Amino acid sequence: MHSDSELDAAYWSGRYNTGQTGWDAGAITPPLRDYFQQMSLPHAARILIPGAGRGYEAEYLHTAGFENVFVADIAPEALRDLHQRVPGFPAEHLVEQDFFALPTVPAYDLIVEQTFFCALNPGLRPDYARQCAALLRTGGTLMGLLFDTEFAAAGPPFGGSRVEYEAYFAPYFDFVHFAPAFNSIKPRQGKELYMCLRKKAG
Ligand SMILES: C[S@@+](CC[C@H](N)C(=O)[O-])C[C@H]1O[C@@H](n2cnc3c(N)ncnc32)[C@H](O)[C@@H]1O
Repeated sequence: MHSDSELDAAYWSGRYNTGQTGWDAGAITPPLRDYFQQMSLPHAARILIPGAGRGYEAEYLHTAGFENVFVADIAPEALRDLHQRVPGFPAEHLVEQDFFALPTVPAYDLIVEQTFFCALNPGLRPDYARQCAALLRTGGTLMGLLFDTEFAAAGPPFGGSRVEYEAYFAPYFDFVHFAPAFNSIKPRQGKELYMCLRKKAG
């Protein structure tokens, strides 16, 4: 297992530079696309995609007319890929910064999760839940996918279970959905939880 310091920007840049990006689905995945298609947020809503990688979800939302989509990643290669693919995506919304150091003001309306949580050292999971809550307005939404499986190989990705994850999020969020995903991409079928959590007041 890697220590926190090893899973740093140099590690992730190295993965992009050597083409070791097995997590990259190459397109927006159906659970996120379906959620975006039915959500009722205004186009001015502030949306954050942390550990966004090449940012297919950001591209989708930008193309759909959302004006305040932000991606945060510590690997500049990932942000550069999105910038080159989608030149109209605002450069100031490409944030090369550690998720845990992102400013919490102004608050976000929506945070989107996909294979970022599993990329972090598991010791950071309570901090991930706390930082998501800090970044969201009251009533704001954390949605996305979490692995509900263990991996044989040393991480990342790091696996886990619904029961484990519930304990991290329960202090800050009401659970709208936290159940097996039914429309995962094929390699992840039966291994993902679909998460939609609403930030509690206080
Ligand atoms: C497994 S990849 C997932 C990328 C993307 N979400 C996807 O599904 O294709 C994890 C990403 O998180 C980024 N990352 C890792 N630790 C981070 C941190 N502390 N803050 C921001 N980004 C981070 C990595 O650079 C990498 O792009």
